[in-house]
Amino acid sequence: MSVGIDEISFYTSNYYLDLRTLAQQQQTDPEKYYTGIGQEKMGMPAPDEDIVTMAANAALPIIERIGSDTISTLLFATETGIDQSKSAGVYVHRLLGLHSNCRVVELKQACYSATAALQMACALVERQPERKVLVIASDIARYELGTPGEATQGCGAVAMLISAAPRLLEIYPEVGNFTDDVMDFWRPNYRATALVDGKYSTKIYLKALKKAWEHFVQATSASFTDFGRFCYHLPFSRMAQKAHQHLAKLNHTELTPVEIEQQIEDTLRYNQIIGNSYTASMYIGLCSLLEHCQENLSEQKIGFFSYGSGCVAEFFSGRVMPGYQQALHRQRHAQLLEARQAVSYDEYLQLWHHPDPQQGESLMIPHTTPGRFRLAAISHHKREYVIC
Ligand code: HMG
Repeated sequence: MSVGIDEISFYTSNYYLDLRTLAQQQQTDPEKYYTGIGQEKMGMPAPDEDIVTMAANAALPIIERIGSDTISTLLFATETGIDQSKSAGVYVHRLLGLHSNCRVVELKQACYSATAALQMACALVERQPERKVLVIASDIARYELGTPGEATQGCGAVAMLISAAPRLLEIYPEVGNFTDDVMDFWRPNYRATALVDGKYSTKIYLKALKKAWEHFVQATSASFTDFGRFCYHLPFSRMAQKAHQHLAKLNHTELTPVEIEQQIEDTLRYNQIIGNSYTASMYIGLCSLLEHCQENLSEQKIGFFSYGSGCVAEFFSGRVMPGYQQALHRQRHAQLLEARQAVSYDEYLQLWHHPDPQQGESLMIPHTTPGRFRLAAISHHKREYVIC
């Protein structure tokens, strides 16, 4: 029996800052961002958007197709949680009208937790093949203004329906893992922005790739040439390019630099204009591959490298299903991105500084997002979500 991703849909905010605007403000060469880190735009959430509203918006097309009663479990991956106790997924459960018999839980390990959720979902479906599990990854990447990480902010959510006989991608059970207690990127409870040792984090990312790959090869006897395409965790697109060159070199590939680049280039397109969406980023990369690749990917094997700072990494793989093109939300995603609005630098600052009540103050939030779900208020320490 094959188990894997039956449907995938993503959402990002209606607003973005063009990195040329940021570069101009910082008196930096825009090519540092456009070429140096390979990023063009970064998504900025509206004041009435958060991980819950983005998650519900991402999952909406799936629920519209299959109905709200068929989901047995909702696994919510995030590292920008809004509550230390209650799962963000429980709010999404109500917004989407899921059945009261559907279980919900939130998972955390930096950008890696969506992969843990995916593997757990596959295991649940293996046990009860008639069940469907909804995996949602949703995050807002925030760094301090004026720091090297600032240009790598972004926001987005991805929803994946995991089922038996999937229409998009069979996920194979074999994995390679690597865990190490390192301080490359972290966010203590009292901070709204992440702390990061940027250069160190890129080195640890590459080390984790090598170690996870070696473990994967040991577990599977797979080789680099088995895979037609690769999806990497995408903090910024240049990171994936460097990682893939590194992996190709470790495997003494005979591919040319152009052929190596072709194995990942279609995975980068959405990330380049959305920015880092932490847990969601590699899976938005998968969407990008399936929706942009001119070649028919049916039956191709794809290698995935999932990385979460701190750190936990996993290499795993999947097979693209014949006819996958019919199950994509290509047009919906194109319309979503096409409709976005660029913000000026001052508007970016306003969005960045939008109050995030840390002391329990009440807040009425103006209606800004064009999305179906919005955060209307925070009152008596409770977040009030509404369906528009
Ligand atoms: P920086 O230090 O300001 O940048 O920030 P830089 O000086 O290293 O320049 C970047 C690249 O641009 C360099 O290329 C420059 O040469 C080039 P490279 O040497 O790397 O090939 N460059 C130019 N190119 C063309 N024209 C120009 C020009 N100027 C410079 N004029 C840094 C880089 C990564 C440190 C920063 O973006 C950062 O701190 N980012 C946040 C951390 C991060 O994303 N780390 C990635 C690995 S960790 C991870 O992926 C996990 C994460 O997603 C979190 C989680 O798991 O939860 C972050």
